[in-house]
Amino acid sequence: MTTFETFLQGQKQAGLSDDLIAVIREVAEATRKISDTLKTSSLEGLTGATEETNVQGETQKPLDILSNDILLDACRTLPSVSFAVSEELDAEVAIHADGKYAIIFDPLDGSSNLDVNVTVGTIFSVIEAKEAADILKSGRHQLVAGYAAYGPQTTLVLTTGKGVQIFTLNAQGIYVMTTEDAKIVPEAKEFAINAARRASWDDVVAAYIEEAIDAGHNMRWVGSMVADTHRIFNRGGVFLYPADRNKPTSGGRLRLLYEANPIGMLVEAAGGEAIIGETKILDIQPTGLHQRVPVIFGSRTEVDKLAAAYAARK
Ligand code: AHG
Ligand code: MN
Ligand code: MN
Ligand code: MN
Repeated sequence: MTTFETFLQGQKQAGLSDDLIAVIREVAEATRKISDTLKTSSLEGLTGATEETNVQGETQKPLDILSNDILLDACRTLPSVSFAVSEELDAEVAIHADGKYAIIFDPLDGSSNLDVNVTVGTIFSVIEAKEAADILKSGRHQLVAGYAAYGPQTTLVLTTGKGVQIFTLNAQGIYVMTTEDAKIVPEAKEFAINAARRASWDDVVAAYIEEAIDAGHNMRWVGSMVADTHRIFNRGGVFLYPADRNKPTSGGRLRLLYEANPIGMLVEAAGGEAIIGETKILDIQPTGLHQRVPVIFGSRTEVDKLAAAYAARK
């Protein structure tokens, strides 16, 4: 049995700094706290919506705010953390003036699924950023990326650049390694897309989905990107959230810094692909903390087909 702590000691031997290891440990601990909070949330009255909206105009759930606070507290206990960036914060928050790492997070992903008791998650990423301006770096600069999926089990999926490790929270509240080197199968006959938005898809996505349906592919859409990603980690498939072709400047639904980039790093580290059109997600130069981007990721062969179709379109 490899506990999370044993894994972290191994990372230290492999050259990861003590500071970075402390960051990973503390973020994992925050996900354990969030997991605990979620389990009894309706008993604590933590349901429904608040009267607050976040910077992108979404109504915040009590658990969006609570999860954000748990992660912010984690950041404050870490002397090496310079900034926190979150879906639920208007701008970056300065943590320690002499810190060097920015922690970037979606505290609760899929929060519209909370009250129906469907899997939600936390997505996080760590980059080096001594100044606020350093935060807007492409996803290739991420040092660590991961997510926790809060479903029937609480599962932590992590990469420090070398492969992807999966941990499951045990009854004692300790993460134990359950997959040492997670891989996304290159081929799969399953896609995830919000089909209700069909009228707004671009021609490449529309043609791909039509062909997939004709070929008998299966469709799944949880509405929590973390849950849809976790399915892809387990049995392959492709996830698509394209931009709205009627609103070309909207960029899509998902946010680059705390949704697309960390998932993109995990997917690539597991042998999959993550793109926006012809470009890989991880190569995008960000322009804003809450920038939205179209997102396609998953099994390599399927994503490559889509990338080739975008390339051929010109
Ligand atoms: P969040 O709850 O963090 O705002 O993210 C929600 C995202 C993502 O989890 C999911 O894939 C997508 O929104 C669902 O979009 P639809 O409402 O269009 O299905
Ligand atoms: Mn949201
Ligand atoms: Mn999200
Ligand atoms: Mn969220």
